[in-house]
Amino acid sequence: MRAQVVIIGAGPAGLMLGRLLELAGIDAVILERKSPEYVLGRIRAGVLEQGTIDLMDRAQAGARMHAEGLIHHGVELSFDGDRQRFDFTQLMGRHVMVYGQTEVTRDLMAARQAMTIYEADDVSVHDFDGRPWVTYRKNGVTHRIDCDFIAGCDGFHGVARASVPPTAITTFERTYPFGWLGVLVDQPPVADELIYAHHERGFALCSQRSATRSRYYVQVPADEKADAWDDARFWDELRSRLNPESAEALRTGPSIEKSVAPLRSFVAEPLRFGQLFLCGDAAHIVPPTGAKGLNLAMSDVAALADAFIEHYVDSSLAALDGYSAKVLRRIWKAERFSWWMTNLLHTFPENGAFGRRIQRAEFDYLAGSVSAQQSFAENYLGLPL
Ligand code: APR
Ligand code: PHB
Repeated sequence: MRAQVVIIGAGPAGLMLGRLLELAGIDAVILERKSPEYVLGRIRAGVLEQGTIDLMDRAQAGARMHAEGLIHHGVELSFDGDRQRFDFTQLMGRHVMVYGQTEVTRDLMAARQAMTIYEADDVSVHDFDGRPWVTYRKNGVTHRIDCDFIAGCDGFHGVARASVPPTAITTFERTYPFGWLGVLVDQPPVADELIYAHHERGFALCSQRSATRSRYYVQVPADEKADAWDDARFWDELRSRLNPESAEALRTGPSIEKSVAPLRSFVAEPLRFGQLFLCGDAAHIVPPTGAKGLNLAMSDVAALADAFIEHYVDSSLAALDGYSAKVLRRIWKAERFSWWMTNLLHTFPENGAFGRRIQRAEFDYLAGSVSAQQSFAENYLGLPL
């Protein structure tokens, strides 16, 4: 078989890239290790920047998002119970949309007409410095696809980045000594807008998926097991970290999902190796604190799709040549913001009392300075593509 582009991974990055290429008349096949049901079973974040909303529209996959997504005009940060609302509309004249990544994935799957090969085992990439080809196994039979380019959209643990010779790639990483224990519940959200809370017991986040479904998180040690937390323990801990009014308003119920996610900052450089390109979580990871993971993946995809289109339509390699440097500049700014917000809101016992005073000063500065609020809002809303 032959294709112009082979995309590895049918997460949001691979599906969006596939859709944009398909609409441009470029022949791209997606190879995904898991089944569609498995991919749709993953619960991930749910805040879309305007750039991501626009990309869903460009992919002609935005109808349900516009009907069901919730426009959020602000967000609340709280520090030891003191609350500060950031009014995005007032500060920047923009907003975000709350719409689950699982729904983004579902809509992109539904929009796709071209071929996605699910349950493709042992995907491996070959000769990406010359004329690339990809092999995979399906139902015990090995297949080969020859192609012009390979797009590694296969997430942090994927095969694309792992296939690059170690001498050709540099990675930058910070792991945090904690994770987020998340719970999904069919109850109305505690507030209309998201609440990010710092408390001496640890960080907490009140998020939502709809008017009747909420998503809550608490900071836990990195090696914590979700099984150690029955629902009652989770709700008690969450309540203890919120300001008293929010704690009072919290509507609890049986959890429909409960899991621990580690926090990590990670960037690979460069993002092009011959005819192999990295995109999304394969290229970088941000801690979820700024809700940047999906949005950053989408901004890589927009740049890579445009670069492929420029190549096939205008016969120019300039955008493909510039892809890595261009997206890395934006990636590092999102890394900085996610790292900063993580540092502001989590507890770091190793930083001692001085560290906490600095966090408090940071919060007070944000609360008291319109310039600081604008800077926060500009980053949270998403820097320009
Ligand atoms: N072969 C084929 N497919 C693979 C392989 C492989 N060897 N390894 C991983 N995959 C698939 C995974 O099963 C997954 O469906 O690649 C896909 C990668 O999807 P994601 O991990 O969702 O990554 P990405 O599409 O870059 O999405 C960006 O936004 O909110 C963040 O981290 C969150 O996943 C999210 C990300
Ligand atoms: C979520 O709803 O899962 C969510 C929202 C905001 C974040 C992270 C996760 O910053």
